[in-house]
Amino acid sequence: MSRTFKILRLPGDGVGPEVLDEACAVIEAAVAGTDVEFEFADGLIGGAAIDAHGSPLSDEDLQKARDSDAVFLGAVGGPKWDHLPKETRPEAGLLGLRKALELFANLRPVKVFDALAGASPLKDDIVAGADLMVVRELTGGLYFGQPSERRTDPSGRSAIDTLPYHEIEIERIVDLACKIARQRRGKVTSVDKANVLNSSQLWREVATEVAARYEDIEFEHALVDSCAMALISRPKSFDVMVMENLFGDILSDEAAVLAGSLGMLPSASLNGKAPTRPGSPASMFGMYEPVHGTAPDIAGQGKANPIGATLSASMMLRFSFGLDEQADAIDAAVAQTLNDGIRTGDIAKAGTPPVSTAELGAAIRERLAG
Ligand SMILES: NC(=O)c1ccc[n+]([C@@H]2O[C@H](COP(=O)([O-])OP(=O)(O)OC[C@H]3O[C@@H](n4cnc5c(N)ncnc54)[C@H](O)[C@@H]3O)[C@@H](O)[C@H]2O)c1
Repeated sequence: MSRTFKILRLPGDGVGPEVLDEACAVIEAAVAGTDVEFEFADGLIGGAAIDAHGSPLSDEDLQKARDSDAVFLGAVGGPKWDHLPKETRPEAGLLGLRKALELFANLRPVKVFDALAGASPLKDDIVAGADLMVVRELTGGLYFGQPSERRTDPSGRSAIDTLPYHEIEIERIVDLACKIARQRRGKVTSVDKANVLNSSQLWREVATEVAARYEDIEFEHALVDSCAMALISRPKSFDVMVMENLFGDILSDEAAVLAGSLGMLPSASLNGKAPTRPGSPASMFGMYEPVHGTAPDIAGQGKANPIGATLSASMMLRFSFGLDEQADAIDAAVAQTLNDGIRTGDIAKAGTPPVSTAELGAAIRERLAG
């Protein structure tokens, strides 16, 4: 009996549709000849949705997301919509989707492919072989805590933001990090600022309790400041790193430098639950998207690197659909394509002409078949 996974495609703006097309063709090629089928639905998000119906995410497309096993998103935004107020800008569609779908865990793997060790501004011997996963708490902490406001009184202007965490929020993200570590090299680093912040002291306490349930996991705590240094001085010492929202926002961008180009980086956002769609064969609902934005400077020119999107699709196969074998095959095909020197402009070697988005996608598919 065949298994059918429903994927909602939300290409978004700029290079989003270009990279999504290639990534979807790669996952179709990866399951060709198996009992697995993908059923794609399409929706609009960001600027494309604003242009079509005046809002960055329609109720109808949100419902389509709920009726799917996974959402595959490109990127949103661009100069055309920069003048709009915050609530109606393209980014509001993305934030609305994350909130409505309770996507509390943001996973950003950073793997340095051997062929690209020289593409990072860091020394080859530091980055070569680095392979880590930042697990960022996405729906709590400073970005959502109240009060968060500007104030003016006779003494002058002031502003306040609040960093709340409940033990339930900490427990579920650290637990997920431990489960992910089991599928990797079995090590978790929990990052906090427990020497100063109450919220971090609670984080450390709860993280220690969760870790006690995973005797097979090597668990350590790290302070965020020294961890920021270690991330670029000894990145190979990390496997899974778990942290609260703001620390994760900053450290995941720092970790991105290791890979050499934004165009290389995938991400997943999970809610830890099975899809709500009746009869779904998927194990965990998730939204998958490349880390990069809409790259307006190269959009529509066939220059975008589709690897970030392709590796995001591979994460979808692994985390939501349990198709580890096919995900491994895609990751290997990407590595082989890079080893063979086939690269878009952002990662091209000096003196070697870059290939187009479509040519790189086709090269990955050829190596999958081979
Ligand atoms: N998740 C998202 O949807 C998301 C994330 C970041 C930025 N944005 C939006 O994207 C727009 C542009 O933002 P930005 O310029 O700060 O970031 P960006 O990621 O779009 O681009 C930064 C640089 O990286 C390059 N780049 C990005 N993706 C690439 C790819 N796949 N291949 C090759 N090169 C690539 C771009 O050409 C550019 O030089 C803004 O409207 C911003 O709000 C959206």
